[in-house]
Amino acid sequence: MKGLILAGGSGTRLYPITRAVNKQLLPIFNKPLIYYPLTTLMLGGIQDFLIVTSPADRAPFENLLGDGKSWGIRISYAEQARPGGLPEAFKIGADYIAGSPCTLILGDNVFFGDNLSGIMQSAFDANTGMTVFGYRVNDPQNFGVVEMDKAGKVLSLEEKPANPKSSTAVTGLYVCDGRVVEIARNLKPSTRGELEIVDVMKSYLADGLLKVRPFGRGIAWLDTGSPQGLLQASHFVETIESRQGVMVACPEEIAFRRGYIDKAQLLRLGQTLAKTAYGRYLQQIAEEA
Ligand code: DAU
Repeated sequence: MKGLILAGGSGTRLYPITRAVNKQLLPIFNKPLIYYPLTTLMLGGIQDFLIVTSPADRAPFENLLGDGKSWGIRISYAEQARPGGLPEAFKIGADYIAGSPCTLILGDNVFFGDNLSGIMQSAFDANTGMTVFGYRVNDPQNFGVVEMDKAGKVLSLEEKPANPKSSTAVTGLYVCDGRVVEIARNLKPSTRGELEIVDVMKSYLADGLLKVRPFGRGIAWLDTGSPQGLLQASHFVETIESRQGVMVACPEEIAFRRGYIDKAQLLRLGQTLAKTAYGRYLQQIAEEA
């Protein structure tokens, strides 16, 4: 399974915060926002990533994450000239995907909860077309919305409907088979001038190959679309980390626990950040292992 992280966009809804800084580089408590979607895919076992950013933002992401080698993963980069819609990620990543199954995650999506790793892995293993995740929200009009019958059959899919037919939002996590590139290539822009991810879902649905898995209330899917949402996500992560003494979305820790890097490497990574609580945490988990 290959991982695509879409981390471009204009960020206009967070201006002036994002006028000069890409949204996905903003902090959620003690680490950049992009660490959260990256580690969500790492928890599912993905080790191969393509990060799609705007041309101007590519260098900062490369500075932050490099080629992934020090974490035992592989990270490549590609550019989206203008924010023309989420499915563009599949077109831009066509050579990278090369017919393999892939999972797209939006760079601003934060997930947390028990057994996220198992949920991701089983969705990857069971996928035969496209699998997306539904999540109950208070404000469905701000998301892609899926309406289902009692048996879980999809009745409708709409992007940001004024009058939502259900409270189930589709999260920014899309597990796809290799056909997704062709499907994305055949899409026409919507009235707002973008390629729409709901149209990709509708195409799989028409072939009977769209699965919607529910994320239950034990999973947190946090909103980072507003200044309040960013602050609340930071508080959420700080609360969990302070209470438990373990980190949320720490790529180095996941790489270590999954055996991508050894203790000596984790200690080296901790050493480079030794002035921070983050670096001391890496050293501590290496020593405890
Ligand atoms: O977060 C889940 C929602 O994400 C879904 O429920 C919606 O169906 C889906 O359309 C999307 O809605 P948003 O309004 O949140 O999408 P937004 O335009 O904010 O983009 C999400 C992320 O993707 C953001 O970090 C910027 C990035 N992006 C977006 C577009 C349209 C790009 O890098 N390039 C793009 O062309």
